Amino acid sequence: MSSDTHSQEHWATRIGLILAMAGNAVGLGNFLRFPVQAAQNGGGTFMIPYFVSFLLLGIPLMWMEWTIGRFGGTKGHGSLPGMFDALVDREKPWAKYLGVLGLIIPLIIFIYYTYVVSWMLGFSVFSITGDYFGFADIGQMRDFLYNFQNIFEASPALGGVPALALLFFLVTLLFLGWVLSRGISGGIEKLALIGVPMLFLFAIVLMVRVLTLPEAAATPSQGLNFIWDPNWSSLSQPSVWLAAAGQVFFTLSLGAGHVHAYASYLDAKDDITLTGLSTAATNEFAEIVLGGTIAITAAVVFFGVQGAVGIAEGGTYDLGIVAMAVVFQGLPGPEIWGQIFGFFWFFLLFVGGVTSCVALATPSMAFLQEEFDWERKKASYSIMAVAFTLGLAHVVFYQFGFMNEWDYWAGTFGLVALATIEVFLFVYIFGLDRGWDWMHKGADLQVPEIYKPVMKYVTPAFLAVILLWWGGTQAIDVLLMQDVADPENLPYRWASRITILGIAAGACYLIKKAWDRRQ
Ligand code: ALA
Repeated sequence: MSSDTHSQEHWATRIGLILAMAGNAVGLGNFLRFPVQAAQNGGGTFMIPYFVSFLLLGIPLMWMEWTIGRFGGTKGHGSLPGMFDALVDREKPWAKYLGVLGLIIPLIIFIYYTYVVSWMLGFSVFSITGDYFGFADIGQMRDFLYNFQNIFEASPALGGVPALALLFFLVTLLFLGWVLSRGISGGIEKLALIGVPMLFLFAIVLMVRVLTLPEAAATPSQGLNFIWDPNWSSLSQPSVWLAAAGQVFFTLSLGAGHVHAYASYLDAKDDITLTGLSTAATNEFAEIVLGGTIAITAAVVFFGVQGAVGIAEGGTYDLGIVAMAVVFQGLPGPEIWGQIFGFFWFFLLFVGGVTSCVALATPSMAFLQEEFDWERKKASYSIMAVAFTLGLAHVVFYQFGFMNEWDYWAGTFGLVALATIEVFLFVYIFGLDRGWDWMHKGADLQVPEIYKPVMKYVTPAFLAVILLWWGGTQAIDVLLMQDVADPENLPYRWASRITILGIAAGACYLIKKAWDRRQ
């Protein structure tokens, strides 16, 4: 049943595949999350745990996920329930239920991430129209953003729903539905072929502009010093290592299920070792060189080192949206230049976001098409309808921390949990030697043998340490919500958590139904 649908879709070109996988990885994580993480966790020294995590977790997991994905694809599966089933030789009925994580994690991230990405579309438009020009300091600009997100009060126009934010969310979902309905090579690959080079072009132009800014509160080189100045004492803090591992997961899109889904559309003889490495390298260039330069350096030049510290502590959106929108208003020259650079920034975030969104939706697409024989169009617009319905809770309850629960369980904890499961299945049940052979089918690069013991012992041990550390230091607080500062938010937080359980239960039911149909 499934193989027919799957064998009809493939990446058309190698460059298209590389750009699509790079688009999958490059996103808000590179330009917004990375600089804040680096600044908060030791500056230049953050790169030590970051590179250790990259080499011992990121790269081996990336090769494993590509291999599991391509292997699953040859068996007709583009989503993890079927892939895990195939990986354990279909003898163990539980395997497909473990794969449910590979369906729900990307779907859950897809829903809230798309909502955030749609803000970037909103701010791209506001840059062109000049809507936020005039909100010229951090406080005013924060109010502008909070109004847009409905943090302060209900919008009278739509009875409590922020109308503009909802509109941009809907437009983004319709665009994504349209791209996905056009298929792997006709939709996703074309989007990447246009979007990813455009994103790099905009980012390079912005980097040059930031690095050539005249001195204001500080100089650009003070900005670079701020982010890259080493703080050696940070290396002894476990939280810094955890933050680095978390960033590597997030930025490379690992432990979720959508890298597997993309890899499933490869041919059995396509190279994955070199191609995988090329996409990881492309992502790191976007993250370290471009992401590490633009926002933090601009913030230091305009607000000074102390100001930038405060902004980075305020979090991702304070830096990426609020501070940058103020920066664009203060650029030398006529206002139109600020508007143009503002558009470049927010639109590059939007493009980086949508090329990740289409990847996040691909496991659900593949599941519905392969297991229930749904047409592409029906699958894509149905997923968007579900995303819109569930996403409404984020739009309306954003100020109560509704999104934080989803981000924590799917976007942070879930990634490590799924990665642990897949490493175990790949190395110890499928068998590392067999996996190694599959990894090297059609390979243009022989992976160094050292990666065998890394995959067998080091990567699982690294993951185990992360989980144990979590269990020992955070689990109780998080599970009982003792870390939620405002008690008013608790009912919303619990409701948010219950929706996650509901999505998981629904997905398990669909898996059971799909396997019943096979019989
Ligand atoms: N990997 C994607 C990002 O960094 C999800 O935004």
